Amino acid sequence: MVLDIRFTDKPLGHAIHNVDLRKLDESTFKEIDAAYKQYGVIVIRDQTLSPDDQLAFSRRFGSLDRFVFDRFNMKTHPEIFIVSNILENGAPIGMEDAGRYWHSDMWYVQKPPRGSFLYAVEVPHDGVRPLGDTCFTSTQFAYETLPEELKREAENRSAIFSSRKYGEYVGHTEEKAKDNVYLKDVVAARQKIKDNVIEHPLVRVHPVTGKKCLHIVEGVISEVIGLSQADSDQLISALLAHTLRPEVVYRHQWRVGDIVMWDNYSALHQANGDFRLPQRRLMHRTTLSAPVSA
Ligand SMILES: [Fe+2]
Repeated sequence: MVLDIRFTDKPLGHAIHNVDLRKLDESTFKEIDAAYKQYGVIVIRDQTLSPDDQLAFSRRFGSLDRFVFDRFNMKTHPEIFIVSNILENGAPIGMEDAGRYWHSDMWYVQKPPRGSFLYAVEVPHDGVRPLGDTCFTSTQFAYETLPEELKREAENRSAIFSSRKYGEYVGHTEEKAKDNVYLKDVVAARQKIKDNVIEHPLVRVHPVTGKKCLHIVEGVISEVIGLSQADSDQLISALLAHTLRPEVVYRHQWRVGDIVMWDNYSALHQANGDFRLPQRRLMHRTTLSAPVSA
């Protein structure tokens, strides 16, 4: 079978139509796997997936991680993490405040997971259009298109990724977390991980594709090792500005039945919080583990 791919005008976010992930033969799976490797973020439209179906599809790509915020892992299927703003009996059923800044998931651990697959069960809507879009940009494309001077500056340098700086940047202080169930989990998880400060190279080689990708996160990098604070801040700003140019950012407008697969090494993403109850959002996320070679 040759996949029906509808291309965006961006480096990523292309949409695959006319497949049913519940009955995927080996050759079609290989084509999807190849598209995932090549583009980093792909959308598969019009799926109807039970938690078992989503797990079976996700496991074809490798082993899965359980998310660190155990509170919102599905009780019957703990490898599915619930992203939602829905309340049941006054209590949240999922993580609402997820990723409103440009990031790759779990940058605060030594070996972040390879990817995430997010399946849309309910999509908020304002009567005119869907809300809660997710934006993506390719860090592989960003690296490949960097001006030579910036490329040279970023190569062979490492940076400090700081949970403290992140907490200040997004306002997740312990003081604020006192009365907020989400922030309580975020702060507790950070303390549990203990990697409050972690060093990553600014350019990483993708462990599966071998391609070089920029390794940056918004609001998190406290310093580039070996540079003055001013030079360090300037370099990170320049790398982010290049990576987030509007002409390369893909904005995904969700439809019920979409599954979006993103590669955590070759792409950054940013969630949009432009919806409120009674506009309901419910997503099921699976997380693909880092390969042994990472
Ligand atoms: Fe995220």
